[in-house]
Amino acid sequence: MKKKILVTGGTGYIGSHTVVELQAAGYEVIIVDNLSNSNKDVLDGIEKISGIRPVFYETDCNDKSGLQNIFIEHKGIKGIIHFAASKAVGESVHNPLEYYRNNIVTLLNLLELMPEYHIEGIVFSSSCTVYGQPDILPVTEDAPIKPALSPYGNTKQINEEIIRDAIYAGLPFKSIILRYFNPIGAHPSAEIGELPNGVPQNLVPFVTQTAMGIRQELSVFGDDYDTPDGSCIRDYINVVDLAKAHVIAMNRMLEDKSEDNLEIFNLGTGRGVSVLELISAFEKGTGVKVPYKIVGRREGDIEKVWANPEHANKVLGWTAKETVEDTLITAWNWQNKLRERGIQ
Ligand code: NAD
Ligand code: WQD
Repeated sequence: MKKKILVTGGTGYIGSHTVVELQAAGYEVIIVDNLSNSNKDVLDGIEKISGIRPVFYETDCNDKSGLQNIFIEHKGIKGIIHFAASKAVGESVHNPLEYYRNNIVTLLNLLELMPEYHIEGIVFSSSCTVYGQPDILPVTEDAPIKPALSPYGNTKQINEEIIRDAIYAGLPFKSIILRYFNPIGAHPSAEIGELPNGVPQNLVPFVTQTAMGIRQELSVFGDDYDTPDGSCIRDYINVVDLAKAHVIAMNRMLEDKSEDNLEIFNLGTGRGVSVLELISAFEKGTGVKVPYKIVGRREGDIEKVWANPEHANKVLGWTAKETVEDTLITAWNWQNKLRERGIQ
């Protein structure tokens, strides 16, 4: 019988790609999502790729009894991957309480229910944002956690602490915390991808929308940083590569291979790419120009950060395989698919 996994936020960007990889690995997936930042059509995309329509609950993870009903209806859920969260950094500055509730109460509900329903482990979506501007690059998992620059970033730090305290208190489950660097791109089939709400805040959706003519011009936030070309540096990671790491993490917990009940891994490529390099890689790969202008720095931006992914490489046996160049082509194909569908 297939092992059952509950994926919160499973119709979202990273969640949907992970659902496809879980299905390919032989898991039965149950999605819970309140559709606050995604669409039910994503289920069609997942089904087109895998041939399997996941069970779907339109439920808010703040609703503890709603979650409880899912555990009762689907006896034997073995693990949870918890993606559901609000993720817009700027919005979190204006609506901090909404962010604290949505990102913290949802986790508390899940952790409180896990022992009762014998859920063995939870994979948690954390972020390189917990490192702030690291003193040493590439950044390893034992780098100090810097004071958060936004309520969103703080929720990730608090989430990590809640999980750590729960495990140290001896609660009967395991956890793997995955710190993502900058996920980009889309499934190679272009059946699923990122669907930004309104004007994109993140670089790659802004690049693809500008290339499509939806936006007039990309603003590059600063060219006076202490980097080779003056623009900021990030570690852009292919979303399918990222999704695959979740399957490995889940296997590891359920097969009892974890060395500790709590493990933390960076998920990045180990390669830093500047904003200007990313634009030129996009133009080279797609043959489409991206009009851009240099503007002032964006408040709160980190100058440069990229991962040391050796811990994940060695312990999980996972390595990011796709190049930024190829990944940007998948993002462009997805943007074209959205145009075909009349969405953007
Ligand atoms: P996303 O917004 O596309 O997906 C999140 C999903 O969760 C959405 O479908 C949304 O509708 C759902 N959701 C939100 N609150 C919910 C609630 N209370 N109950 C049920 N469903 C709820 O975001 P994503 O980019 O796929 O991010 C997934 C996770 O990864 C988040 O926890 C995010 O903080 C984390 N993360 C993302 C990035 C990134 O750059 N995309 C980087 C690091 C970490
Ligand atoms: C990347 C680079 C910008 C838009 C954010 C969150 C972080 C994580 C990922 C969840 C930066 C530059 C961007 C534009 C630009 N999310 N840029 N023009 O800031 O690394 O991280 O998303 O955990 O927490 O903070 O990603 O895609 O916004 O920016 O020049 O229109 O692109 O300055 O250098 P960021 P991003």
